[in-house]
Amino acid sequence: MKIFITGADGALGKEMQQILHKNSISYVASDLNQLDIADFKKANETLLKHRPDIILHFAAISNVDYCEENKDLAFHVNALGTYGLAIIARKIGAKILYVSTNFVFDGSEEKSYAEYSQTNPVNEYGKTKLLGEHYIKDICDRSYIVRTSCLFSKYSKTYISKFLVAKDKPSSMNAICDLFVSFTYTVDLAEAIFSIIKTENYGIFHLVNKGFGAWIDFAIKAQELLKFKTIINPTKVEELNLSAPRPRFTPLDSKNYEFLFHKTLRPWEEALKDFLRSFQK
Ligand SMILES: NC(=O)c1ccc[n+]([C@@H]2O[C@H](COP(=O)([O-])OP(=O)(O)OC[C@H]3O[C@@H](n4cnc5c(N)ncnc54)[C@H](OP(=O)(O)O)[C@@H]3O)[C@@H](O)[C@H]2O)c1
Repeated sequence: MKIFITGADGALGKEMQQILHKNSISYVASDLNQLDIADFKKANETLLKHRPDIILHFAAISNVDYCEENKDLAFHVNALGTYGLAIIARKIGAKILYVSTNFVFDGSEEKSYAEYSQTNPVNEYGKTKLLGEHYIKDICDRSYIVRTSCLFSKYSKTYISKFLVAKDKPSSMNAICDLFVSFTYTVDLAEAIFSIIKTENYGIFHLVNKGFGAWIDFAIKAQELLKFKTIINPTKVEELNLSAPRPRFTPLDSKNYEFLFHKTLRPWEEALKDFLRSFQK
């Protein structure tokens, strides 16, 4: 199995490389410096040269507020870039796995979303990622769409991951208390992706750690485990004046993964414990 990864220097890309390396699987790791996925001609040349059996398409502009402020660029990379890769995957006979988001949902109801739930994104990031899903589904017969949510990882650039990894913690921090999500440890996600791509079980999969909460629940649990002194201030999302609107309640329910693979990702609290242990060693 020869694998080509887009977005290989991102949080999930780096984790995936660890898992592939551990399993002695050969792969080509590509990020913006090697290949801009929004450049169709270059993408076509590159993939015709490598001819992978599977494309793990992780590249995206993943900063939700940046997407809101740069709509054209977000559309170009997240939607059109994916469109191009879908066409190329079909042409070279490769499978493709595309990573999407809980932000394809509007979060207006107080219940978890299953794979078949109605999508209705409320921000540009969600709209561009949903377009990517449509391109993949319409063009590639042999495709997997993995929707995930709120990644935490030692490789992540997000505030909470960097905060937890940092040795010196600030005296106080704000943590959102009124948005509810699933959390996902990149190690668990990358392992689940690895088990999916070895099969012909195509379709949409919600892959997140079990349970849900607000970021404040995540921060409080981490504090309980790490015993840091930082004061955690409950903060409403509207106080943060973010550019992009956020859906209020978007936990994901992994029905298809459970049905086909008879397993779930462990509860996020257990994954968090492992994550904290991983950089304390
Ligand atoms: N992080 C989350 O909580 C989350 C939640 C749900 C879904 N997802 C999705 O999961 C996937 C992986 O997320 P992640 O957290 O690993 O994201 P990430 O850390 O931002 O990694 C994405 C990588 O793609 C690169 N990239 C951006 N534009 C590109 C382009 N035009 N061509 C090639 N590479 C490009 C980025 O480079 P730069 O850093 O230089 O931009 C970055 O290295 C993404 O598709 C994201 O939409 C993430």
